[in-house]
Amino acid sequence: MLTPSVVWQAGSLHLLDQTLLPQRKVVLLCESVEQVFEAIQQLRVRGAPAIGIAAAYGLLVDFPADADLALIRERATFLESARPTAVNLAWALRRMVSRAEAAVAAGEALLPALAREASDIHDEDRRSCRLIGEAGLSIVTAKPRVLTHCNAGALAVSELGTALAPIYLAHQQGVDVHVFVDETRPLLQGARLTAWELGQSGVPRTLIADNMVAHVMSRGLVDVVITGADRVAANGDAANKIGTLGVAVMARHYGIPFYIACPASTVDLSTPDGSAIEIEHRDPDEIRRFRSEWMSDADTPVLNPAFDVTPAELITGYMTDRGLLDSPQQLAATFSAAAD
Ligand code: MRU
Repeated sequence: MLTPSVVWQAGSLHLLDQTLLPQRKVVLLCESVEQVFEAIQQLRVRGAPAIGIAAAYGLLVDFPADADLALIRERATFLESARPTAVNLAWALRRMVSRAEAAVAAGEALLPALAREASDIHDEDRRSCRLIGEAGLSIVTAKPRVLTHCNAGALAVSELGTALAPIYLAHQQGVDVHVFVDETRPLLQGARLTAWELGQSGVPRTLIADNMVAHVMSRGLVDVVITGADRVAANGDAANKIGTLGVAVMARHYGIPFYIACPASTVDLSTPDGSAIEIEHRDPDEIRRFRSEWMSDADTPVLNPAFDVTPAELITGYMTDRGLLDSPQQLAATFSAAAD
C-alpha cells in the first residue's frame, strides 16, 4: 500500500514530500499555514485534487482558539494564491469558507465543523476515484495499452487516482494492461511518480522520454491515451500538465482515442473555454537545472509554463465520477445538472 500523500491525524497535517520521490520517502508535519502554502507552491504536495484536500486541512493548521470568519477568509485567500491553474484548490477553499459561514450563522464551533468538512472533501475524493475507474474500465479492458502523461494517480489524488484509476481496476481484474509513462519534463512527475507508483502496485509499465511519444504511437504500441486534468472549462477544453496538448495532437494524428479523467471538482463551468484558464508560469531554474544539477547556463532565457490546454475537439471523452461522457455538451449538461 502506498503512503498516502495527505493525512490529517489528531489535528495535524502530514504531507508526503513528492519532490524527494522516489529516492526518499519523507513525511512533513505542517506546523503553520505558511508551511502548507510553501508545500503546495513547491509541489511537495501536487496534483489538482490533492492540493485542494491539503489546503482544506491546511486552513486548520495551528488554529487559534479565537479564530473567526475574517481569519478563515484571509487564510483561504492566501492558500488559493499558491497555484492558479488547478481549480480544485479554489473549489475546496470556497467550500470550506461557505461551511465556516454556515457554522458562524448557526453558532457552531468552527474547528470541529471545518475538520468534518475537510474530511468529507477527502472521503468524496476517494469515492470519485473509484467512480472514475468504473467509468473508464470498459475502455481500458478493450484497449489495455495505455499512454499517460504526468501523474494522475494515487499520489495526486486519493487511493486510485483519476487517469490511473481504470488502469488499477483493470489490473486488479486480471486484464493484461501495460502503461507507457511519459517522463514529463521538467519536473519528471511521470518518471519519478507515475512509474514508481505503478511499480509499487505491480502494474506493467514502460518509461519513455517525452520526445518518444510519436515514435511509440507510430509503431502501433498505444491503444488509448488517458490523462488527468487541472481544470475543464464549460466547452470541454482541458488544462493539464505541459506536454499534454502535444500528446493529444499526436494521438489524433495516429487515430488513437484521447481521454481526460477527472472528478466534478475539476470541472469549472464558470470558465467558458480554455483561453480563460490562467496558466501557471514557474521558476526558470526548473528548466535550467534538475535539482542541484545545471543543464544549461544560469543566464539562459527560459519559458516555463506548467500547463497547457487541450481543445475539446482533440478529446474523445471524459471519464468522470458521473460516468463516461462522450462530448463536451454531455459534460456541461451533466455537471450543470449536478450543480442545481
Ligand atoms: O504540477 P502538478 O504536478 O501539480 O501537475 C499535475 C497534473 O497536471 C495532473 O495531471 C493533474 O493535476 C491531474 S491529477 C489527478
